[in-house]
Amino acid sequence: MCKPTYYRVEYSINPWMNPSENPVDRTLAMYQWNSLRLAIETAGAIIDVMEPHGGEHLPDMVFAANAAIIRGKKAYLANFQCVERKNERHFYKKWLQAHGYETFGSMDYAFEGEGDARWVGRNQSKLVCGVGARTDARIISDLKDKMKTDSQDFKAIALKLVDPRFYHLETCFCPLAEDLALWYPDAFDSVAQHNLKQEMEMVPISEADATKFACDAVVVGKNVILNKGADDTGKTLQRLGFIPNFVDLSEFIKGGGSSKNLALTLTM
Ligand code: ARG
Repeated sequence: MCKPTYYRVEYSINPWMNPSENPVDRTLAMYQWNSLRLAIETAGAIIDVMEPHGGEHLPDMVFAANAAIIRGKKAYLANFQCVERKNERHFYKKWLQAHGYETFGSMDYAFEGEGDARWVGRNQSKLVCGVGARTDARIISDLKDKMKTDSQDFKAIALKLVDPRFYHLETCFCPLAEDLALWYPDAFDSVAQHNLKQEMEMVPISEADATKFACDAVVVGKNVILNKGADDTGKTLQRLGFIPNFVDLSEFIKGGGSSKNLALTLTM
């Protein structure tokens, strides 16, 4: 996770951001970020904290999951589509290298890290990718090439995102286990909807909960840490044998992100 020291809504690169009418309360944002960190740690995960760089010039750096996708000790870096976030790459690259990750990446096509790419299947045998909004499908062949290992290849599944409110895969798709996920189906085109259902058991959530970022959730074992207010999804999670843990992330919703997007998944 990256500290929200400089986080604010200063520009608008997604429909949730409205700098003049919905500014961020930074003190509250810091409090909420710390609450999220505590909730993830309490669920049993270890958090590494990165100091933000670029100061006031990179206010979105707090959304760490956009930095890269990780597989073992390999990190495939983002090539941010939005010019406002492009310089984050350099700082994340340095951090990942300093922490023992071999970094890859392409500057040819846009790619926004774990925001648009989630591992599913046994031993990360599949990579689900959201394309068409922030990530260009043409990045996938290089990503596959660099992230496969001699012993293990994986299948990449590109899914077209069609609703501007759900501009990252993480906003509308939440893997709960190897073959089980929450999703907001209407965020995907019909081909993507069909293809995803072939891969795993998909549990839909309502539009009301999707717009509370219920899919943008951190999953640690059976614990699911999500923005407060998505009560129906909480019930669905309980029915599936999971434990919902709600954290108020109102200040980050103003930036168009929530729980999962604030934490990049690393492997030890
Ligand atoms: N303001 C950031 C952006 O638009 C927020 C990113 C949040 N991403 C997410 N997957 N929820 O890039």
